[in-house]
Amino acid sequence: ARTAVVIPAAGKGVRLGPGAPKALRALNGTPMLIHAVRAMAASRAVSLVVVVAPPDGAAEVKSLLDAHALPERTDFLVVPGGETRQESVKLGLDALPPEHDIVLVHDAARPLVPVDTVDAVIEAVRDGAQAVVPALPLADTVKEVEPAAVTGEPEPVVATPQRARLRAVQTPQGFDRATLIRAHETVTDDVTDDASMVEQLGLTVVVVPGHEEAFKVTRPLDLVLAEAVLARRRL
Ligand code: CTP
Ligand code: MG
Repeated sequence: ARTAVVIPAAGKGVRLGPGAPKALRALNGTPMLIHAVRAMAASRAVSLVVVVAPPDGAAEVKSLLDAHALPERTDFLVVPGGETRQESVKLGLDALPPEHDIVLVHDAARPLVPVDTVDAVIEAVRDGAQAVVPALPLADTVKEVEPAAVTGEPEPVVATPQRARLRAVQTPQGFDRATLIRAHETVTDDVTDDASMVEQLGLTVVVVPGHEEAFKVTRPLDLVLAEAVLARRRL
């Protein structure tokens, strides 16, 4: 089985505040995207990485990949992304050559995921799962609310799911290629991850242990944490 990774990296990073597209911002001097690409290429099972670049940033991403040392055993492709994450992933899937039968989708915004997590996801797909997500138990209690019609109005709580049954889901998410492609061709609802599209097909998604260092860089405080983690690794 040959494994490819699609890295959606086409987002703006609005929640991070003004600046370059999130994937191109530096963490300890190296673009976040390069950290994410290295995290995927660190797995010996990964033979191709498809980077989905900001719509007008494909040339810049290509030169970034050329400028940084990456493992020889891995091939790289760059394609321009779309308006939503879902569209960007689809554009990445469209660029996949036929020989890869396992496909991972990994957010550029999760640059620090350890290779053991990547390998655990691949292994679960090799063992027969159609869709695999790494996930962690939650620290916070989660409440469902009725979102306020007017910003600033208090929002009534609708429900409190039992925390012990909830998981915070990360990437890379791993799929049998045909399943992921069918999901992207069939599901048209807005979703926030790829596995939920497979769930909508009525198929089973399984969970493997995630990792704290696979957190998503979303807000400014996450940059502080990411740089501290890198400093601890002395990268
Ligand atoms: N993404 C993408 N194409 C889009 C939107 C998002 O490829 N049109 C990617 C992002 O680059 C990121 C991943 O999807 O790697 C997860 O999205 P998120 O963390 O929401 O990143 P952004 O959309 O860039 O951030 P924000 O929502 O704050 O603008
Ligand atoms: Mg976003």
